[in-house]
Amino acid sequence: MPEFRTVRGMRDFLPDEARIMKYVESKARGVAELYGYKEVMTPLVESYELLATKAGEEVRLRMFSFKDLGGRMIALRPEFTPSIARLVATTLRNEPKPFRLFCLGSLYRYDEPQRGRYREFWQSDFELVGSDKPEADAEIVLLTNSLMNGAGLKNCVFKVGHVGVIRGVLSEEKLEDKVQNAVLQLMDKKQYEDALRLVKDSGISEKCLALLQNLVNLKGNDVFEITKKMKEHVGHYEKAMAAADNLSSILRLIVESGCKIEMRVEAGFARGLEYYTGMIFEVYVPELDVALSGGGRYDKLVELFGGESTPAVGVANGIDRIMLAMQEQKVKLDEAGEKRVVVISVGEETKAEALRISCMLRNSNITVEFEVMGRKMAKALEDADRRKMDCAVIVGKRELEQGAVVLKDLKKREQTTVGIAELAKTIRG
Ligand code: HAM
Repeated sequence: MPEFRTVRGMRDFLPDEARIMKYVESKARGVAELYGYKEVMTPLVESYELLATKAGEEVRLRMFSFKDLGGRMIALRPEFTPSIARLVATTLRNEPKPFRLFCLGSLYRYDEPQRGRYREFWQSDFELVGSDKPEADAEIVLLTNSLMNGAGLKNCVFKVGHVGVIRGVLSEEKLEDKVQNAVLQLMDKKQYEDALRLVKDSGISEKCLALLQNLVNLKGNDVFEITKKMKEHVGHYEKAMAAADNLSSILRLIVESGCKIEMRVEAGFARGLEYYTGMIFEVYVPELDVALSGGGRYDKLVELFGGESTPAVGVANGIDRIMLAMQEQKVKLDEAGEKRVVVISVGEETKAEALRISCMLRNSNITVEFEVMGRKMAKALEDADRRKMDCAVIVGKRELEQGAVVLKDLKKREQTTVGIAELAKTIRG
């Protein structure tokens, strides 16, 4: 037999890593709870067409897609948003809005594996469906910030923009949607020269080209100064002006909410996914050069999938990358410090009673590992020490006759005889 390995781009999570991943997931669930987002579970496999329609070239080309045995073209989900839009366009179409929906799970993209970029990764995804108001956009940014804080991350920077600004200019200049998409794809990859060349080749005036160049260079942390300049630049393009206005309303709400969020506005910021229609954002920490989260407004997707015209805004947070950032920043997990107990039976005849005591402790929510290797007492205790257990419950015939067991504190190296009825309380201390 060959030596089997994980498939390229796929990883095993050993207990220490799995623990942090689950920790981040629990923080995401906590945020969902706090903001009133209800969890939904959508399939890992969807029709290729649903996932590809507005994915944008980058994601579309990297989908794990194949024909199933029935000849249908399907794909592993590269993101949650199309599944949510499908749900809203179909099963949930008659439900009162807004919906606050939350998903958590694995996604698949045939990305080139490198640090922070995997072929299987996890997202927590939040979608606020049914509102076109700036407070909805603000809520998505605020909850993303709550998650970053909850995960204990410091120095997060939110890069913010609005696809309506560049698209507004390009569509008023009568550039076809297809070309607009290609321009924004290039901008997403920071290939601004190529993007502007494409615009130029489409026959746009020098004046407009100069304006786009100015927009691409316009960025900074003084968010109101930048949006003011944005408006000055695009003044005579009505749609672009409305987009810049919308962005400043969203930013004002975020700033005036009192939450301290470090934001940086970039007028030439674009995201690879094609469904965005409004505000877009990504979250970075200084230790990593890839985004931890990305999101934005997509007001046309539900309609495209056959539903009513339904505005929506959302964000997906990369659980793997948040974990990586936590490791880089050496974040300490604030896990409940529950005691870990090993239960050891001294002899064959006390095993059943030792199992009964284990069940009793677990019923009191105490983590118990039962000694299953048949080791002698000294070896069993040595092993418990190696695994950093807090205490050992030693079940022997002599103590059992008194309704008691020996409780050994493995940290303090002390032992006492404790009545079984008081055992759980004594362990808790
Ligand atoms: P996205 O920017 O493609 O947006 O992905 C969101 C996050 O998923 C990224 O910021 C990153 O943390 C994580 N991610 C993406 N690809 C990988 C990868 N290959 N390896 C590890 N992590 C990765 C979306 O998926 C949109 N659906 C977000 C959204 C929701 N927009 C509106 N609603």
